[in-house]
Amino acid sequence: MKNIVVLISGSGSNLQALIDACASSDIPDARISLVISNRKAAFGLVRAQSATPPIPTDYLALAPFLKGPEIATDDGSTRPRTRADYDLQVARMVVQHGRPDLIVLAGWMHILSPEFLDVLEGKTAVPPPIQPAPETSASTTATPARISPKIPIINLHPALPGAFDGANAIQRAYDAFQAGEINKTGIMVHYVVQEVDRGEPIVVKEIEIKKGEELKELEARIHQVEHVAIVEATKKVLEGIS
Ligand code: GAR
Repeated sequence: MKNIVVLISGSGSNLQALIDACASSDIPDARISLVISNRKAAFGLVRAQSATPPIPTDYLALAPFLKGPEIATDDGSTRPRTRADYDLQVARMVVQHGRPDLIVLAGWMHILSPEFLDVLEGKTAVPPPIQPAPETSASTTATPARISPKIPIINLHPALPGAFDGANAIQRAYDAFQAGEINKTGIMVHYVVQEVDRGEPIVVKEIEIKKGEELKELEARIHQVEHVAIVEATKKVLEGIS
């Protein structure tokens, strides 16, 4: 049985597609072992907790983390917490219940720093805990010192490769269509590398933008395509892992 950790920030409709695909064996021999959110109110956490059986969840938000106590340094002084410290703690959360086979960013709206990737690629050690997550439904087991082999990370992005990297991609594609600059958009699931939304694509789907349609209608059509693509990509990547 392969274990998948899913990172979310919002509604979690793509997480739901993965939950359903694991339950129906559209993704065979796999389960979601943990869902992590950076937003307490993310509805995806409710989706995970309502699954059968319930999926453990964890939560860590950036702003309160940064306000936490300063970190002790090797020379005995202390320093403020940084965004990289936060990302390292998220990396720790990902592996603290055992080594997952795959990490899926499904609507995770936070750019992860190179420090996060280094831990998951086994280049640096899994960091010690600085601050326990305030709420967790996952039990803690021994944490590996260093990850080996590296754990693949894939990300869902609502634009075609090379177009509209970063936030608000659907809105920007819609605006570009209204300005006559493009005639189609799309979505991709790609491997995560340091450059935002630039890793090797695994599944790409083009989506027509219809004249006269509202942004909401385009968004709804894009989400439907995403729910298929995220399952396809997850299945494909897991099939390639022995
Ligand atoms: C999806 O549209 C996904 O492509 C997007 O967030 C949404 C999450 O929806 N991700 C990004 O924009 C990442 N750059 P969901 O919470 O319902 O799955």
